[in-house]
Amino acid sequence: MTAATSTAGAGDDIVLETRGLSVNFGGLKAVDEVDVKVRRGGITSIIGPNGAGKSTFYNLVTGAIRPSAGTVLLEGRDITGMPTHKLTALGLSRSFQITNLFPENTVFENLRLAAQVLEPWSRSLLPTSRSGIAAAKAESLIGRFGLAAKATELAGHLSHGEQRRLEIAVALACEPRILILDEPTQGMSHTDTEEASQMVRELGRDMTVVLIEHDIDIVMDLSHTVIVLAQGRKLAEGAPAEVRANKDVQTAYFGAH
Ligand SMILES: Nc1ncnc2c1ncn2[C@@H]1O[C@H](COP(=O)(O)OP(=O)(O)OP(=O)(O)O)[C@@H](O)[C@H]1O
Ligand SMILES: [Mg+2]
Repeated sequence: MTAATSTAGAGDDIVLETRGLSVNFGGLKAVDEVDVKVRRGGITSIIGPNGAGKSTFYNLVTGAIRPSAGTVLLEGRDITGMPTHKLTALGLSRSFQITNLFPENTVFENLRLAAQVLEPWSRSLLPTSRSGIAAAKAESLIGRFGLAAKATELAGHLSHGEQRRLEIAVALACEPRILILDEPTQGMSHTDTEEASQMVRELGRDMTVVLIEHDIDIVMDLSHTVIVLAQGRKLAEGAPAEVRANKDVQTAYFGAH
């Protein structure tokens, strides 16, 4: 199945691209000359066994660490080594493998703070209680993510599944064009995983989603393109069925489990 692109004439509309992306930790090539092209719209997944370099790749793309070689392009613009807050302003949002909520703030406050970048600069100095655009955005996300009953609850008091849901909502609050998620279902129960997968699928209808995941079964069902990393290198790329049938993937991936 080919994902439909939402932009006119965008036969080759690449949102995110890496060229020769590499980083070494001492003698270890954690990410080794990885070339990736992510097309606009739908869900592109990056999978690989534990230690394949997925989170490191994610950290390189989202500005948490600097590459030792290679480039990262966002909509054709070189963003290599750019700090995370600048990337957010350019439309790239991310969600952590480790939770990044403010546990002492309510669900509503977490969302409103994250949506603050939507306010025009002239209002950005107002107390957050008077920032109407951010508050409206927080309200709409609370509805969309089924958190209405929890709006005034402290984020730290939510269940694990609810926290992951809130985290995705926080990542969306700045209205990104591309969302990168690192194992959003990690540590979730079976039911929460199903629910979160549904949510990711829905997000892929609105924007470009890059899903980093090690559970091959989750991505097969969701993605239009799957990229496989193993030992820091790109091993395979293609439609889910094609990747699953790939002998190298089967050896490296399932052999490692
Ligand atoms: N900051 C670091 N310093 C040294 N080595 C690191 C660092 N971060 C990661 N590594 C190593 O780099 C390799 C890739 O790790 P990474 O966390 O990117 O894998 P992953 O694919 O995300 O694995 P998982 O499925 O467990 O999340 C591993 O061998 C890891 O031990
Ligand atoms: Mg990881």
